[in-house]
Formats: sequence, C-alpha cells, structure tokens
Amino acid sequence: MKGIILSGGSATRLRPCTKVTSKQLLPVYNRPMVYYPLNTLIRAGIKEILIIVAPERAGDFLNLLGSGKEFNVKFTYEVQDKPRGLADAFLIGEKFINGENTALILGDNIFEDDFSAAIRDFQQGGRIFVKKVSDPERFGVVQCDQQMKPLKIVEKPKEWISDYAITGLYLYDPRVVAAAKSLTPSARGELEITDLHNWYLERGELSVSPVSGEWIDAGTFDSLLKAQILAKEKLQDKLVI
Ligand code: DAU
Repeated sequence: MKGIILSGGSATRLRPCTKVTSKQLLPVYNRPMVYYPLNTLIRAGIKEILIIVAPERAGDFLNLLGSGKEFNVKFTYEVQDKPRGLADAFLIGEKFINGENTALILGDNIFEDDFSAAIRDFQQGGRIFVKKVSDPERFGVVQCDQQMKPLKIVEKPKEWISDYAITGLYLYDPRVVAAAKSLTPSARGELEITDLHNWYLERGELSVSPVSGEWIDAGTFDSLLKAQILAKEKLQDKLVI
C-alpha cells in the first residue's frame, strides 16, 4: 500500500495565521500539524509516501520533512498548482501510485486510531472511515443501513441525512486513478472526493469502517484548539515520528 498526504490548499478559514505559511505547518502542541497524519500512515506500516503541497510552500515542506530517511520511509513530493479538489490527488499521483493500492490522508486530519490492520487487510474497492459527530453539516456524510452498508453520500449536507462524518482517511484500489480521471469539476470548480466515493458506491464496492478513537479535522480555529489538547493529552505515546 502506498500513501498520499494532501497538504496543499489555501486555508482561508485560518487567516491571518495562514497568510505566510501553510495550515499543515501550524503547531499542534509539540509537532507541526502535518506530522500527525504522516504519523498515522507511518504507524500503519506505509513506507512510500507522496506529499502534495501548494507551490508557494514546497520549500518549507522539503526543509521540514526531507527525504523521509530520518523516519525510515521514502517521501516523494509533488506540487498542486491550484486547489483543484481532493480527487485531484490521483491525477497528480498517477505515476507514484503505479498500479498499487493507495491510502489518502488529508494533511489537517488528526487521528488517535491505529489503522495497521485495516490497511494490511484491505484488498479492493474503496474504503471510507466514519465517525459520529454532532455537526455533520461540516463534513462529507454517509447514510448507512443497519449493517453499515453505505446507501448515500453527500458533501456538507444542508438537510440532515446522517450523523456519520466521512473522515479524511481513504483506501482505494488502483482503479482510483481512472475513476478520478472520469470526474468533472463541481460547481465550485473542484474534483470532489464525494464523486469518487459515489463511483465506488454505484458499483457496490465502497465499504465503511468506524473510527473508534478520537478524530479531528483541524481546519478551523476551534477544532485546531481541540486538536492541541488532544495531542497533548492522548497522542504523545502514539507518535512514531
Ligand atoms: O476532514 C474531513 C473532510 O475533508 C471530509 O468530511 C469532506 O468530505 C472533505 O471534502 C474534506 O472537507 P474539508 O472542507 O475539510 O476540505 P478542505 O477544503 O479543508 O481540504 C482538506 C485538506 O486538503 C486541507 O488540508 C487542504 C487540502 N487540500 C484541499 C483542496 C480542496 C489540498 O491540498 N488541495 C485541494 O485542492
């Protein structure tokens, strides 16, 4: 399994803190934010990781993270010249993926769980990891039946459909590249991850796993503050980098 960490974007919700740096380089207690999702991949046994960054921050990420040797893994870097959406990661990453299964993690998602078993056992299709939240309108959301079989996926639903937020960790088989290529940009001009999930859902090949530990999307000031506290109180003994 290869890993991709998506760490571009303009983070306008965190201005002025992100005026001269990336959201994913802001501190979360004693590490830059990007260390936490990287830690999730490395802790799960992934050795080859593509780091996708915004052009104006590429040098900062390279200075911070280097080749990966320090962490016993190999980093590859690609620049996303414009925030074209989460599914754009698979167009940018096509060569890196090279026909293998891939885990995508968002650079602002902080998890407590250990995903080693899920990643080791993954075979094919698409897999999303979900968590019950009190504010589902902030996220991609999935409606499931009693057996956690996914029925419907909506990005930031205005009308309530479910409390299950789709977190920013995803597993896909190699078809993800062709699926991403078949998408058309949404009204906001992005290749939507939700459309990619619908591609797998329509074929009956999307599976859903619950996240049992804490999960935070640290993309707002309030969630960033919560992430700092979570990192201090619960994550320190889970860091391998
Ligand atoms: O955190 C989980 C949520 O992440 C999911 O529930 C949603 O389905 C998913 O769309 C996403 O929602 P966000 O509103 O949090 O997405 P955001 O635009 O903040 O982007 C997430 C991360 O990806 C962030 O670290 C910036 C990076 N990014 C984003 C875009 C659109 C890129 O590197 N390139 C991009 O083109």
